[in-house]
Amino acid sequence: MARILVTSALPYINGVKHLGNLIGSMLPADVYARFERQRGNDVLYVCATDEHGTPAELAALEDGLEVAEYCRQQHEIQADIYRRFDLSFDYFGRSSSVENRELTQHFCRQLDEQGLIEERTTKQVYSAADRRYLPDRYIIGTCPHCAYEAARGDQCENCTRVLDPTDLIEPRSAVSDSTELEVRETRHLFLLQSQLAGRLAEWLDEQSDWPILVTSIAKKWLKEGLHDRGITRDLSWGVPVDREGFEDKVFYVWFDAPIEYIAATREWANQEPEVRDWRSWWYEADDVRYVQFMAKDNIPFHTISFPGTILGSGEPWKLVNFIKGFNWLTYYGGKFSTSRKRGVFMDRALEKFPADYWRYWLMANAPESDDSDFTFEFFTSGVNKDLADTFGNFVNRCWKFAQSRFDGVVPEGGESGEAEQQLARDLDAKMAEYTSHMEEMQYRKALSDLRAMWVLGNEYLTHAAPWKVIKEDPEQAAMIVRTGMQLVRLFAVLSWPVIPSTSLRVLAALGETDEIPAWPSGSAADDLQALTAGTPLGDLGILFRKILPEEQEALEREFGGAPD
Ligand code: 2FM
Ligand code: ZN
Repeated sequence: MARILVTSALPYINGVKHLGNLIGSMLPADVYARFERQRGNDVLYVCATDEHGTPAELAALEDGLEVAEYCRQQHEIQADIYRRFDLSFDYFGRSSSVENRELTQHFCRQLDEQGLIEERTTKQVYSAADRRYLPDRYIIGTCPHCAYEAARGDQCENCTRVLDPTDLIEPRSAVSDSTELEVRETRHLFLLQSQLAGRLAEWLDEQSDWPILVTSIAKKWLKEGLHDRGITRDLSWGVPVDREGFEDKVFYVWFDAPIEYIAATREWANQEPEVRDWRSWWYEADDVRYVQFMAKDNIPFHTISFPGTILGSGEPWKLVNFIKGFNWLTYYGGKFSTSRKRGVFMDRALEKFPADYWRYWLMANAPESDDSDFTFEFFTSGVNKDLADTFGNFVNRCWKFAQSRFDGVVPEGGESGEAEQQLARDLDAKMAEYTSHMEEMQYRKALSDLRAMWVLGNEYLTHAAPWKVIKEDPEQAAMIVRTGMQLVRLFAVLSWPVIPSTSLRVLAALGETDEIPAWPSGSAADDLQALTAGTPLGDLGILFRKILPEEQEALEREFGGAPD
């Protein structure tokens, strides 16, 4: 039994996430965790809300709440949605936890002991009206290059030039519109990343099996030269900096957020301290395989910054073994946008269709080698063709026939013949491919293997035509239906990582109640004997309903399709 640690990028606390966020990290991580659990491995999948930073503070302000209370509420809202999407976290924590505070401060102390922390004086814009320092992007003004009037202090959205807040003409606060801004000197802690470049490059060179998307981004950053990085901020919300003269400062959100992966494991262990050992997953944990899931914008932080923290600590903390990165899921060719509420958000998605519809479509169209596009037309077509017409229809055909002609049980029937042997050979090949693609986290390919197996089932049934055979040879017809029911069971087991709720529904109707259905042996000859003849077939109903053209149009109208 292997020990596998899985983490998905921590969703920001402010606001419900959209389908792009879901497929970019949490959903594939969940599919991977489920698959490895099915194979009998000891999996720990942790995630958490990423709660610090200015966006959280400002969102709380807008809602008229204390930021701690805002985060508490939003964490509950997100946790509930993830439960309803069947994301099987072993623990879903919070980066504002006590555990994270302790670990973040610990890492900073360690880095300091290793000579990798330096105090420096920096210049920061202070807004008297807001009574706070403003991060660069919360200062807006006129772009000196293109005269765009709402350019942000870090970058002009119009001409894309990188800016310094002091470049802006007539700068003002994005929070209050106040122009009463002044530049103040303030002390901050810098992590001397430049000194870690050699060790990081060496470590990255060892990761020969990582996806190109991941290594190319990491190497590009290294090549551009690693700058020392300010890891503290003049804010009140965050992990406090336990150092003299830093009483009013907190750690930068990107310093403490990845440490929360470790802290969330500690939060998990603190629920049952007698039996759970968080350190064994993170400290001197050579027997653990650690896999991270994230969208491409997060790759630099996970290939450079966080490993820098770990390596620089001088302690044997776990480094990631494999990173699965994703491109973007677009929405009608443009960006999903949280601030502009553009796209399908997870709460609204569940109001329209059960989680499995979304899970299946997103995994089948995962933005792996390239960006992929969501439209209701693609979604409808995937759900209708694959889930309703292929998987659902197959199950339904077998079920109905067994119910009407074989007293609602799995029939016994005679010996299988050449058609069944051919079916077993075809399935063996596909199951092997499916298993490898799941191991390799090649999800588009894996889902196409799964679909191909569903198609094999339908083709077998159509050719074997038990509804015709039964007139001449009821024994033979019984054998075909028995084979069909074995396929139904096998497909349900194989589909569990992707569409867990439907899978368990089918298995329950076959009298199986295991929470985690064990992965098949991979030999169809054996796997098609799992059900015993006489097993009663419970009520199943329709597995997937088809989305009608008028419904698709209504969704397009409701969610707004065309890019604005
Ligand atoms: O990009 C994001 O959504 C970040 N909240 C991800 C943080 S991942 C980790 F480092 F915490
Ligand atoms: Zn500009």
